[in-house]
Amino acid sequence: MVAARITVNGKVAPISPAAPHTTVLDFLRERGLTGSKEGCAEGECGACSVLVARPGVNKPTDWVAVNACLVPVAALDGQEIITSEGLATAGEPGTPPTLHPVQEEMAVRGGSQCGYCTPGFICSMAAEYYRPDRCAHAASADSTDADSTDSEHGPNGFDLHSLSGNLCRCTGYRPIRDAAFAVGTPAEDDQLAQRREQSPPAPVATEYARDGSVFLRPSTLAEAVRLLRDRPDAVVVAGSTDLGVEVNIRSRRADCVVAIDRLPELRELRVESDYIEIGAAQTLTEIERRIDGSVPLLAELLPQFASRLIRNSATLGGNLGTGSPIGDSPPVLLALEASVVLADADGEREVPLADYFTGYRQSVRRPGELIRAVRIPLPLSPVAAFHKIAKRRFDDISSVAVAFALDIEDGIVRKARIGLGGVAATPIRALAAEAALEGKPWAAETVEAAAQVLQAQGTPMNDHRASADYRSAMLGQSLLKLHAETTEAVPS
Ligand code: FES
Ligand code: FES
Repeated sequence: MVAARITVNGKVAPISPAAPHTTVLDFLRERGLTGSKEGCAEGECGACSVLVARPGVNKPTDWVAVNACLVPVAALDGQEIITSEGLATAGEPGTPPTLHPVQEEMAVRGGSQCGYCTPGFICSMAAEYYRPDRCAHAASADSTDADSTDSEHGPNGFDLHSLSGNLCRCTGYRPIRDAAFAVGTPAEDDQLAQRREQSPPAPVATEYARDGSVFLRPSTLAEAVRLLRDRPDAVVVAGSTDLGVEVNIRSRRADCVVAIDRLPELRELRVESDYIEIGAAQTLTEIERRIDGSVPLLAELLPQFASRLIRNSATLGGNLGTGSPIGDSPPVLLALEASVVLADADGEREVPLADYFTGYRQSVRRPGELIRAVRIPLPLSPVAAFHKIAKRRFDDISSVAVAFALDIEDGIVRKARIGLGGVAATPIRALAAEAALEGKPWAAETVEAAAQVLQAQGTPMNDHRASADYRSAMLGQSLLKLHAETTEAVPS
């Protein structure tokens, strides 16, 4: 097996002697690449962002921005990254480098003051700069056409949500937004733009052992489940958005980590006549772009799920695997009546998500099993909504999350599925509220009665995010809101 290595700004560097838990951020900084900063070490500030070459959706390669503070460098064995230092072009000896277009715009528009956050913003902006479909629906950058822009998208097609994982304490954001909305399109001879036309590095089978711990990347699902059978102590990791926090904040050190995020069997998207199957190791960004609105509940959920930086690494399998009662995907998947496909060395089994969670961060998943895929049955219920109640509109943890999927025919609720998060030790279905709606008219009287039932569901608690009373009240309000939003489209 070839020694673990990573390509940084075009130069190959051995990963050794880093420990298997060493993050990409620490690896870079120990080598003098100190542009990427540590702000929070838990994926919330974006000061550590770097670009990774990943399989693209519209081109062979996408430049994807990720939180370097969360990803173990061993997870990028054989991969290729660009840091803020690698974006500028070196000049003749004795002359300064030529700034990258996003660096230039940030500089001239005052987008950098103390500069701590700036390299992270630059990397997130560069990822959006190179997004192949960025200009597809936009007018030219000097257009004043009001239809081509809104407060969150520039006339150059720049999506400000690409910066939702980057925090700045100095600028007040306006100059950063000005810089983002001013960047043009990559020049013909831009090497990173050209790089998108070739495939990204293939995943590399990795066995990186040091100081008594090991990071393993199997090549196939069969190999992965064998490993998990033989090493029941192994920690399974995909995007590392959860494990990275544990490593940094709680000093967790696993003896054996098994990476499953590049297993081909976990990265498929299949649309059959009666279900859609989403590979558990696809990132949320990939799902967002590949599903492209065809599952409206997912299309509502995904933009509200953490930041773009997190969605570029996090996976559906990871969100279900951690079993958090405030994960945002379970309420939606419960409303969609999804099931999880679990795989181990003996084969596969399919478990309805409604039967999957058994207690606080507990599930029916056995030691040695991993989530291969999530199946969503078809057809989808036509009336669907996801309401995330949180203190901030984006990049926040839900106080309560409610997902609805209703079949309403001739003004009668034929089927109701309601998934709830944040009101019990596990995500739950609101069975009593569903029963209070089914077979009844989709009318104010029924909805108000069902809202009363809904707000009594679960056992919400008081904590720093919200009181139990507030959480309960929000459940009822969610249903009233859905009714108000749909009564024009669905006559009662
Ligand atoms: Fe804050 Fe990485 S250091 S997101
Ligand atoms: Fe100081 Fe952003 S420029 S934190």
